[in-house]
Amino acid sequence: RAFFKPILNSAPPSPTKRHTKISVIGAGNVGMAIAQTILTQDLVDELALVDAKPEKLRGEMLDLQHAAAFLPRTKIHASVDYSITAGSDLCIVTAGARQIPGESRLNLIQRNLALFKLIIPPLARYSPDCILLIVSNPVDVLTYVAWKLSGFPPNRVIGSGTNLDSSRFRFLLADHLDVNAQDVQAYMVGEHGDSSVALWSSISVGGVPVLSFLERQKIAYEKETLENIRKEVVESAYEVINLKGYTSWAIGYSAANLARSLLRDQRKIHPVSVLATGLYGIDGGDVFLSLPAQLGRSGVMGVANVELTDWEAQQLRNAATTILEVQSQLEI
Ligand code: NAI
Ligand code: LAC
Repeated sequence: RAFFKPILNSAPPSPTKRHTKISVIGAGNVGMAIAQTILTQDLVDELALVDAKPEKLRGEMLDLQHAAAFLPRTKIHASVDYSITAGSDLCIVTAGARQIPGESRLNLIQRNLALFKLIIPPLARYSPDCILLIVSNPVDVLTYVAWKLSGFPPNRVIGSGTNLDSSRFRFLLADHLDVNAQDVQAYMVGEHGDSSVALWSSISVGGVPVLSFLERQKIAYEKETLENIRKEVVESAYEVINLKGYTSWAIGYSAANLARSLLRDQRKIHPVSVLATGLYGIDGGDVFLSLPAQLGRSGVMGVANVELTDWEAQQLRNAATTILEVQSQLEI
């Protein structure tokens, strides 16, 4: 304060600007990629980091704090104690075991279910009005688990789902069509994983439905080409995990993209894991799957009523059956 000559006789009342806070649980590859992207994109006033490893946690906190001269002013703190998350607007959960090369996401469920029983209740207790964004895998099942353990309404429990898969899909389509990925509207829906569904019928490039776009551009394609692109999306994570041991940068941008839509009340539509029971003939129990959902400050505002072909709707129901089968074995 001594550095400045006051221009008023007394300090002005501080404006009642809304203070926004995000807590990231799990300061590993994914959690830190998310934290770094949130800071770079100036999404919050306060960032809290939680992990089970105190020294690694402190190291990550200091390393981010040391970037202060290059970042918007943000309070960055960390603790192994969940009380640090109190009053969060958004809690992003990335804690948990990750796949080893060749391992499926579903194979992680027992290890990460045990962690969630330790993590979710304190998060809900310290921030009873927050939105939970689940990233840990298997993300659809763990989003259901977080919903059950938190007792929150389903609009405030969201899984990152196929927001990442859809970005991979848009990248591959854009590369194939030699256009900008941001001009490609394309959704992968259903399970974030091996059974994710490409909604070919609703893909558009610059507002032009892709299949008629390809015909008009005389770009030859067969159904096999389209299926190969879908398979490449599904294989993406396995390829990156085989090459670098984990995935982090794309999910970092994906989760920050969702955090912006939620906290800045963007009302944008994202393919994220939501309570899908009752939609597209999905029944047989409570299940979270990715569908194009409108996101704002209250969380999920609604699910877009996209036209699905009978085949696409059946694939969604098959994914729901697989997930419900996994859930039926769990003790939550
Ligand atoms: P990582 O091993 O680098 O980080 C996991 C962190 O969780 C570790 O720092 C560990 O200390 C921490 N942790 C463990 N128990 C904890 C507890 N009780 N409380 C707080 N922190 C705890 O793993 P990585 O690569 O960051 O992956 C994390 C999870 O994210 C995995 O389940 C992975 O499959 C998932 N993932 C999901 C993606 C998606 O699109 N949904 C994409 C990429 C990863
Ligand atoms: C991914 C895995 C790790 O899609 O869920 O990157």
